[in-house]
Amino acid sequence: MTDPDFDLDTYAARWSESIHAALSTYTPPADAPPAVLHEAIRYSLFAGGKRLRPLLCVAGAEAVGGTGEIVLPTAAALEMIHTFSLIHDDLPALDNDDLRRGIPTLHRAFPEAIAILAGDALHTLAFAVIATHQTGSADAVLRVIRLLADACGERGMVGGQVDDILHERQPIDAKTLRSIHERKTGALLSASLLSGAVLSGATPAQEAALTRCGEQIGIAFQIVDDILDVTGDDATLGKPAGSDEKLDKATYPKLFGLDESRRLAHQAAENAENALTGFGASADPLRAFARFVVQRNT
Ligand code: IPE
Ligand code: IPE
Ligand code: MG
Ligand code: MG
Ligand code: MG
Repeated sequence: MTDPDFDLDTYAARWSESIHAALSTYTPPADAPPAVLHEAIRYSLFAGGKRLRPLLCVAGAEAVGGTGEIVLPTAAALEMIHTFSLIHDDLPALDNDDLRRGIPTLHRAFPEAIAILAGDALHTLAFAVIATHQTGSADAVLRVIRLLADACGERGMVGGQVDDILHERQPIDAKTLRSIHERKTGALLSASLLSGAVLSGATPAQEAALTRCGEQIGIAFQIVDDILDVTGDDATLGKPAGSDEKLDKATYPKLFGLDESRRLAHQAAENAENALTGFGASADPLRAFARFVVQRNT
């Protein structure tokens, strides 16, 4: 049975407070030396953001009967990794953007070298937080570390980002485009809900279903990100609209047009929900996130 009254806004608001508290606890204070580094880290980490990856981690835990509180260190680590990826994605050598989360990008507010190094520090801090603070069996924690390392590294996000850059101003086919989106964005989103589930004792069948759900949420999410780059505005997005067109990026709207892109995103979101048929009301948050990623305008 699912709960027809489940409200995602209430759920996200409640958990965002715990996620914020965990992030604040595990991030060094702004005045810790070198202060400029810790100010920079906090500038980007606490600028806002939907906190989707930590929320998916919590929802993944709950889906298999676990509790969100237990996975908060990993949830915080996921947001650190994501924030590092945004800082580097915005750099002049990558997307060269000036606005992020409604404020100047880190390399505009701080020296570029500090922005690069703040990203590096957030990446390693994330793994230190899991290794130090995540409770659970050593096997499960080790699996999560490996899962996140795979999702972020050359086979995941970083590899996807490289292909994203290599395909600027280039023709692209649907399979390659999908593979870029799966790696640069889908891998971390999928690892987010799976890591919560792994730490909460998911069975192999549950893991398989949640992996499928996460992959489909991931692809839907990045297709919509591409769509919003065309249809959104800076104030709503908190980042520059039209950034993809400026760099002639390989995107879904460029290859398929807006209508077909919307259809493909909705199809992926539906696939994500269908992957959850074996779960009861405990997976309602995940079902709601699958719908949210295609309905969002921010
Ligand atoms: C933006 O991610 C970068 C992509 C992977 C497309 P989000 O849209 O989740 O960014 P925040 O965290 O809410 O700022
Ligand atoms: C970024 O994709 C993916 C990662 C940050 C890994 P985009 O370049 O489309 O993200 P935005 O639109 O700048 O947030
Ligand atoms: Mg990019
Ligand atoms: Mg970008
Ligand atoms: Mg984008």
